[in-house]
Amino acid sequence: MTRPLVTVIGAGNVGATAAQRIVEGSIADVVLVDIVEGLPQGKALDLAEAAPVVGHDMRITGTNDYAETAGSDIIVVTSGLARQPGMSRDDLMTKNAGIVRSVVQQAAAHSPGAIIIVVTNPLDAMCHVALEASGFAPERVIGMAGVLDSARFRSFIAHELRVSVTSTHAFVLGGHGDTMVPLPRYSTVGGVPITELLEAERIETLVDRTRNGGAEVVALLKTGSAFYAPAAAVAQMVDAILHERHTILPCAAYLQGEYDVDGLFVGVPVKLGRRGIEEIVEIELTDEERAAFQESAASVQELVDTLARLAAEAPAEPTSGEAGSESSEEGTETAR
Ligand code: APR
Repeated sequence: MTRPLVTVIGAGNVGATAAQRIVEGSIADVVLVDIVEGLPQGKALDLAEAAPVVGHDMRITGTNDYAETAGSDIIVVTSGLARQPGMSRDDLMTKNAGIVRSVVQQAAAHSPGAIIIVVTNPLDAMCHVALEASGFAPERVIGMAGVLDSARFRSFIAHELRVSVTSTHAFVLGGHGDTMVPLPRYSTVGGVPITELLEAERIETLVDRTRNGGAEVVALLKTGSAFYAPAAAVAQMVDAILHERHTILPCAAYLQGEYDVDGLFVGVPVKLGRRGIEEIVEIELTDEERAAFQESAASVQELVDTLARLAAEAPAEPTSGEAGSESSEEGTETAR
């Protein structure tokens, strides 16, 4: 039996760390791809040389050639640019859309049966680009955001209540941005909702910190954005899919009527398995939660509309040959 294969596109901070977690967790073999020559090869070699010490037998290779990714079970897309000083949000979106479109077209052509996990920001908009560029069924295109956002919320709750993170569960729905919707009623410690354990004011502070989780890390790092937690979130999704775990995780999924949203990627709880998104789980929302979710969906719609407008204004295909930069001067609302 052949082992599952995961292609990770982008050998930067998130991509290389995700690749490390996947092989060192003995989840799958990995092919690491980047546009920069030598970068994926060098990082893959370094990771392969760590294998005897770590004690795993997964294979990791690096390449600039998509032919070597053929037959992948999962394609993880982390390639993209960070926002540079002087670069507008729209510029960043257009550039990353060009990169995501190009890499997804190439990778999907070599792995037509794969499941795509999108990580590149602005996340929700990039999911639309990947869906279109791959031509895959919507359940095979999934955005990584909710696992990260809820992990942040869980870590803050656990720290606040001095309990193990493993006893803490949390749900964060909506888009990956300022309008994300952390749900305290569905966030529990040992099965007890945090609304029964913490004052409303304290919960609001933790919710705010979760919303700004990406920006908080960016502000501390000064250059670059978060990658350890994003990579861990990717590895959990990959593991859930390949091991057919049916794990319920918050992910950006293409909604077709669920939660009264149609034709848009928004963060919702989904069941992950070998077919990708096996079920979109609809949970009861209060009027207030529903309104916050709709507002979040509207902001995703705005992003998608902006992307369409920018594409119409500059119909020429952006080139695929742009290398990433590691610097990010400010925390954008989509900062990881
Ligand atoms: N094809 C392949 N790789 C590319 C391409 C391309 N066309 N363009 C850029 N890259 C690569 C860069 O060479 C770089 O190695 O993508 C990598 C991006 O890595 P980093 O700059 O380190 O960014 P990282 O922190 O990993 O974040 C990647 O994930 O969390 C999001 O907001 C984040 O969109 C960003 C992405």
